[in-house]
Amino acid sequence: MRDADLRRQAVQVLHGNWEHGHTVPSRRLYPHQWSWDSAFIAIGWARTAPGRGRRELESLLAAQWADGRVPQIVFNPAVARDAYFPGPDFWRSRDVPGARGARRPGSCSRRCTRWPRSRSTAPHPHSDALPAPLYPGLKAQHDYLFRERSDGHGLAVIVHPWESGQDNSPAWDAELARVEAGAEVLAGHRRRDLDHVDAAERPTATDYARYVAIVETYRDHGYRDEPGAHRFVAVDPLFNTLLAWSEEALAEIADLLGEPSDPHRARATAVRDALLAHSYDPGAGHFFSLDRHGERVAQHCVGGLAPLLLDLPADVVDALVAGMTGPRFALGDRVPLPSYDLTGPAFDTTRYWRGPAWINTSWLVLRGLERHGRHAEATTLRAALLNTVREEGFREYFDPLTGAGRGVADFSWSAALTLDLLARPPRTRPW
Ligand code: GLC
Repeated sequence: MRDADLRRQAVQVLHGNWEHGHTVPSRRLYPHQWSWDSAFIAIGWARTAPGRGRRELESLLAAQWADGRVPQIVFNPAVARDAYFPGPDFWRSRDVPGARGARRPGSCSRRCTRWPRSRSTAPHPHSDALPAPLYPGLKAQHDYLFRERSDGHGLAVIVHPWESGQDNSPAWDAELARVEAGAEVLAGHRRRDLDHVDAAERPTATDYARYVAIVETYRDHGYRDEPGAHRFVAVDPLFNTLLAWSEEALAEIADLLGEPSDPHRARATAVRDALLAHSYDPGAGHFFSLDRHGERVAQHCVGGLAPLLLDLPADVVDALVAGMTGPRFALGDRVPLPSYDLTGPAFDTTRYWRGPAWINTSWLVLRGLERHGRHAEATTLRAALLNTVREEGFREYFDPLTGAGRGVADFSWSAALTLDLLARPPRTRPW
């Protein structure tokens, strides 16, 4: 298939999933707005209809809470209340003072996007595409994370696997196992995801009961980050990498707006340093998640390669690239990177974040390889991404061994990031 045809199909997917001001990740499986999906989707819109990308973020940020947090899901009131579980009647955020749209205009996702970038402080040729009105909300979102979610060592904690975006990653198994939740937690509820995707590709019933129990406790504490509210606490290297990378982006936006940018650069550096000090294991050459006690969880997940997006010492870059090209991640030009160690004890070719290859995480690692001038590996990974969607379509994820498409079809971020790849010729120079 020619690039022009692939591009046309990707644009069609985004238009097909556009829903009055936002883009659904998938028409049937995910019929509302999801925060990090929207960030990736906006990057795709920026390549074809930038006004839609701006609206995508504005509609997400219109749901920002008074304390600065941006919800993981923004429910569309026009969609049947039981079309997705857990839906609005379960979360009940409307009962929380300061929730939903308390700050206007609002901020970006829990992990914000980077808009088409300019290194210069001169007027940007596309300055109307820059999210000036979004800046205060973006900053407030980060302020919330640094204020309420600090692990005490300069990193931000997540309090639900869903906040990581890698829901059933083996990185969370031990912490999740501490959550006591029987089948009764799900009684009276119906998992709508199983209407659309084979149960073998989704988190298990045990995992789901625990996910729901964690939300119930947080909800019963009014979503306040206070003692007792969190039954799950972890530090995710991917989450923190995106926080630091986004602080770099905020510094650039601040410069363009004439706002102070040094505090953003200082935060980016501090998070990067804390990742190196606590999450990086020099023996393994990989960034691991941390449990609630700050201990590294030695499971090799693709998010542990994501710190390549940041400024890193050369020996750390070398170690990450060696890990990526070795047997655990087996970088090649046919299939994107697996979400989890191909040789790991919990590896599963079909079950969601326990092995399958996802477009967004490989796209992030690709951006990291480009940053460090690792062009050979970047070219290989770019080819893997494009070959996979060309052959299998814009599926949600892919078998990490064969590249066969899995999950739903016409998945928005798979299409959006393809648009970005096609629009950006392979880099031959570091940033
Ligand atoms: C699943 C994924 C998550 C994504 C959401 C919507 O929960 O694990 O990363 O944001 O679906 O696509």
